Amino acid sequence: AQKVIFDTDPGQDDAVAILTALASPDEIDVLGIVTVAGNIPLDLTTKNALKLLELGGRNEIPVHPGCSKPFGRTLVTAEHVHGKTGLDGPDLPEPKIVAQSQHGVDFLIDTVRAHEPGTIRLLCLGPLTNVALAFAKAPDIPGRLKDIVMMGGGYFEVGNITPTAEFNIYVDPEAASAVFRSGAALTVLPLDVTHRMRSTKERIEAFRAIGNRSGDAVAAMLSFSERFDVEKYNWEGAPLHDPCVTAFVLRPDIFEGRAVNAMIETGSELCRGMTVVDYWGVTDRPKNVVWMRSGDADAFFAFLTERVGRLP
Ligand code: BDR
Ligand code: CA
Repeated sequence: AQKVIFDTDPGQDDAVAILTALASPDEIDVLGIVTVAGNIPLDLTTKNALKLLELGGRNEIPVHPGCSKPFGRTLVTAEHVHGKTGLDGPDLPEPKIVAQSQHGVDFLIDTVRAHEPGTIRLLCLGPLTNVALAFAKAPDIPGRLKDIVMMGGGYFEVGNITPTAEFNIYVDPEAASAVFRSGAALTVLPLDVTHRMRSTKERIEAFRAIGNRSGDAVAAMLSFSERFDVEKYNWEGAPLHDPCVTAFVLRPDIFEGRAVNAMIETGSELCRGMTVVDYWGVTDRPKNVVWMRSGDADAFFAFLTERVGRLP
């Protein structure tokens, strides 16, 4: 099985990404979940991660709280999208399991160092604060990872929290910039892909129709996210972002993209956190990311539904 660490701010869509991995133990070995402040403050992202492990029946996986805010910016959260708890929708019980005392960034560093180089994939579903700090503290880590697969940014679809920025990058653009420049192998699932992956009524119904508690919870989560996004975009169904990361790890054939140069705007106030992507190769800047551009939404949702069906 592929060894992965999640870095995440759950979030309904983070939740589906994590559950999909928990449902796939033969293919994905989740070494741990590191939480970060993003959609909601850190205490809630941590609590939500614990709730998800209990929901998925995988209480043995350690949760390590990471950074509670970006280093150079005031924390921006998104309760308007995800609700007060960050995981509004399903009625999940208060978790009985507890988080680890080791800081998420130290867990990340120690875990990567404890494994053979080139074996661990870091799956990033939130602002990149923890990853940037880990790379600053331990410069050997970018080169020791197999790769990073992350949700963030937009080129063709540009932004969702501002006209020019996607939320995860916007919250901590300096961290994102450090990660994009780190030399780590990096695959990005941006809005360009995730805006195609819309949770229509039928797709939500398919989760409910599974008839297990995880399917019910996912259906309730996606119905909640619908409320805000459908009004915002006036699309049938809201985009489902973070599960694209897990789906990419397990089913890369669902997605298409190319190696490009991508850099993060940190200086501008107007364009803070914009992902500046040389998709058409108009500069000589070195290729530093694989930028996904599209994906097969029907295959994506069929895959997620099948996996959630394997859970309790
Ligand atoms: C990203 O921002 C968060 O609100 C979601 O969980 C996702 O990671 C989408 O822009
Ligand atoms: Ca997220």
